[in-house]
Parts: sequence; C-alpha cells; structure tokens
Amino acid sequence: MSDLPAPEAPAPDPRPTPTEPVADPGAAAELDVAELDVTAPDVAVAPAPVEAAVAALPWWDSAVFYQIYPRSFADSNGDGVGDLGGVREHLDYLRDLGIDALWISPVTRSPMADHGYDVSDPRDIDPLFGDLAAMDALLAAAHERGIKVTMDLVPNHTSEEHPWFRAALTARPGSAERARYVFRDGRGPGGDEPPNNWPSIFGGPAWSRVVEPDGTKGQWYLHLFAPEQPDLNFDNPEVVDDLEKTLRFWLDRGIDGFRIDVAHGLAKPDGLPDLEIPATQLMVGSVEDSRFDNPGVHEIHRRIRRVTDEYRAVTVGEIWVDDNERFGKYLRSDELTLGFNFRLARAQFTADDIRDAITNSLAAVDAVDAVATWTLSNHDISREVTRYGGGRIGTARARAMALVVLALPGVPFLYNGSELGLADVDLPDAALQDPMFFRSGGLMRGRDGCRVPLPWDGVAPPYGFTTGSSTWLPMPDDWAKLTVAAELDDPTSMLELYRAAIALRRSRPEFAAGSAFALLPAADGCVVFQRGQGLVCVVNTTDEPMQLPPGEVLLSSAPMDGDRLAGDAAAWVAL
Ligand code: BGC
Repeated sequence: MSDLPAPEAPAPDPRPTPTEPVADPGAAAELDVAELDVTAPDVAVAPAPVEAAVAALPWWDSAVFYQIYPRSFADSNGDGVGDLGGVREHLDYLRDLGIDALWISPVTRSPMADHGYDVSDPRDIDPLFGDLAAMDALLAAAHERGIKVTMDLVPNHTSEEHPWFRAALTARPGSAERARYVFRDGRGPGGDEPPNNWPSIFGGPAWSRVVEPDGTKGQWYLHLFAPEQPDLNFDNPEVVDDLEKTLRFWLDRGIDGFRIDVAHGLAKPDGLPDLEIPATQLMVGSVEDSRFDNPGVHEIHRRIRRVTDEYRAVTVGEIWVDDNERFGKYLRSDELTLGFNFRLARAQFTADDIRDAITNSLAAVDAVDAVATWTLSNHDISREVTRYGGGRIGTARARAMALVVLALPGVPFLYNGSELGLADVDLPDAALQDPMFFRSGGLMRGRDGCRVPLPWDGVAPPYGFTTGSSTWLPMPDDWAKLTVAAELDDPTSMLELYRAAIALRRSRPEFAAGSAFALLPAADGCVVFQRGQGLVCVVNTTDEPMQLPPGEVLLSSAPMDGDRLAGDAAAWVAL
C-alpha cells in the first residue's frame, strides 16, 4: 500500500463523543468465573509507531464504511423505492453515526432484473434513483460532512438491455459485436446442448440460446448469474477500455472509489471446460469452482489500479476466495486496495469460529502488507441478528459482534440496518423479487429478507421510509421500537451502541490504523484481543457471565454486573 500518494488533510470531526457503558447490576445471573490470561499474546502483529504510520496511510486504512442498499435506505419521492434524494436527506444521520465512507450499491441505469446489478448504462443514473445531478448533489453534500462516497462497479456482466448486447443479438456469430460477450456454439446434434455444464449461480444453466436474426436457433451466451446478465469477455481489449472509461467518468465527478462486483470472476478459464463439481452455491468461494479466481483476473485489477491511483481512489473487491494466499494476491500493491473477506460473515457465534475468522483474515492480508476488512452482513447475506439465532439472543450476539468488528485492525463495513439491529424479514412468496427465488424454482428463497426498507420513525409501516403508502418490499408490523427515532431515544439501543463504539474507535489511539493487534489466550468460549498498548476486546460466547480483567470498561454490549460480563456479550476494557 506504500506506493500511494499522501492522503488529504482530514476533515474536522463532527462526531459525538462516546457514552458511558450501560450499567444494570441486576441483569447477570450467578456465574462461573472464567479465567482470563491477558498477559501473553499467542498471535501478535508487531506494533508500529502509530503516528508515523498514520501520516503515511491512505484515508481508507482505518475508515468505517457504511453500505447503502439504495432501494431500501430512504425514499424521497414517494414511490416506495429508496433513492439518492433519500440518501442525501439522511446524511446528517450518517455523520452522527460516525461513519467515514459510503458504499452505494448500484444506482446506474438498469432494467432491475437483479436490482441494479444488471447495468444497461454504467455512466448514467437510473431514473428510479434520480439523475446525474442528484448524484452530484449527494456527493457534494457528503463531502461537506467529511464523508467519502464509493459506488458499486459491475464489470463482470451487463444487462441484456445494454446497447452492446442488443447489437450482439442482431449481429452474426464471429462478429465484433458478439466478441464483447461469451458466445459459443452449442454441443450435440443441432447445437441443442449448452456449450458446457456450467450452472448459473441463481439456478438453471449458465447459458441461454439466442435466435439468430434469420429466425434459426442460434448460439448460446454465458451468464453466470441471470440470463438478463450476460457475461462480458475480458479478453477483448474493447471491454477493458470501456471499463476504464466508466472509472474515469465517475472519478472525474469526484467519486472516491468503487466496490467491485464479482472481482474474482472477471477472467474465465481457458477453453471454458466443464465443471467437475456439481454446482456452486451463491457467492460461496471455492477454489474447486474453476470459473472463479483465474490467473487472468489479476491483470484486469492492475489495469483498474493504474486508473484509480491517479485519483487516489479506493477499490474494494468482492472476493469469494477461501485460500489465504490466493486471496492475498488480489491485494498486492498494484491491484485492489481492499478486498471483502467474508469469513466473519460466515462464522457462527462461537469462540473457535470467531478466532479462526480473525486469524485467517489477517493472515491473508499480512502476507501482502494489505489491510483487512470486516463485515457481518450485506445485501446478499442474512442479517447477523438472524444468523446468530434471532430474537433476544440473536440481538445480544449481534451487539457483541459489533464491538468485535469495530475493534479489529482494518476496515469495517456496516450494512444499512445493522446499526438498528434489524433481522431478516420472513416475507410471503408473493412479495419476493429476487431472481434467485424464481430461477431456483423456489428452492432458494433469495435475499429479499435482508433487503427490507429501513424504518425511520413512527409506529407502523412505512415508518417514515417513504411519503407514499407502500414500499417495494413490505415492512413488518413489529418494527416500531427499531426505528431510528425510537433508538435515538433509547440509550440501550443498538444504534446508541454503534454510535458510542464508532466514536470511541475514532478517539482512542489504540484503534488507530497501524496500532498493534494481538489475540490473547482466553478461557473456553471466550475470545480476547488487544489493541495498542492495553485496550482489550473481550467476547463471551458462552451463556454464563465471566469476570473481566481489571481495568476500565469503556463500552459493553450488555449491562455489566460489577466486573462481570454477561454471556453472549462483548466489552472493551482499558487495562
Ligand atoms: C452482488 C449480488 C449480485 C451479483 C451479480 C454480486 O455478488 O453482490 O447482489 O446479484 O453480484 O451481479
């Protein structure tokens, strides 16, 4: 990361100061005291001189990112779908939450077969979300508040309505128009079989057959996702040139960087051989799935980096690659600046899983001197409250894990609604919209449950999300206590926990980029790690309270009982 230009001077810090830990002495039951040994690190990252390191680091190395799923964040025009105006109206909320940067899921032109991940014009805003002026206004307003803005870049595929794909359909096999995509003749008599056995990530075959302009049955085109999302051919220089044009288009408008969709899937294996595994699950990285993580992908990321470096912009790639060494390759100093490591989002709430996810995520980046990212959920992954068991326990564990991701070294990504403690919504079939549900014949329920619009205020749907009466996905009746307004009024809410944690993370030198990290030995069922010279994060995954090491409890995810931390909870302690 050392070849980047010096960062800009930081904007003044408008964020709130931390609140005191919540104290409720009545809450913890009688306990077995778990012994903590906080003296001997078993995994250590060498301490770095903090101030010197921070001065040399780019802004994103310790930033807190917040993912906005624009359909679901806030609606400013009453049509029931969130939009850029809605984001702009709530920038003060985001500033007060304390985040540093936004990742906005796709808002570019799209027929919305995959809610924006099918792009028909990558250099314009879809009218559903606003227009270029709305994007410019949002960018300016965010920058005024010291918030950076990154956009989703979807290079792997276009929409079937992209002018290139339309041209490919009316052109001949072997034409330059078809060479931008992956067209092949079929196998078997009459070419009636797909060119290989690849399944689509969303279910069904990864190939669809076209009808040639003369009306005959024709070639097949590749779509790793829905048929409406034809894969581009990155061996074609025109495709890479066009991507560069898109990068520059947004960077010239002042965008601070990109989240790169399917960053590990842009290069396809030579000869497109049959898969030897039966199918792959959605977004689950597997080195056995030969469609992903092919060597050619790295040259594409180098090309992107050459452009983004000119603008000092950040890139964060979606990298579903389990192997640490292979993962790290994406983060070499001339490729992506950051990469999503999804280990923590897949970990159960057990000490072993949490420790394993932390250790491996750090190992993957340390080898290439890159920075780790941490995420508990996103628009493709079940919300953490639900993954950890739902209800009271799921919420308690999600609170604990919030303190984990915000204490780890590197870059946390929060998914909108996590800060409110939202759970997945069990939607009726009739409400579902995810192509995964339809393509899989209902076998996979899809991702709509984690995409329900955010509740802002009021006691009934649409909870201030829209001025209209309906929302693109129905909102549940029992979210009155989970609205932003209600949580701002409740010092014990998830939102207040997030605000306090982010403020502490900002003010304590132990959390600064480059500050030391060490996993410490801990009692069964506990994870303890140290930041800097003496701040520890203690996670108790058991259902019994445990004794904390002596020190000042800066923040706890559950009420403290003296020096005892409840089960399913975490605390930050200054030793
Ligand atoms: C995005 C998904 C999307 C897929 C196809 C991803 O990994 O995060 O939401 O459906 O790419 O673009």
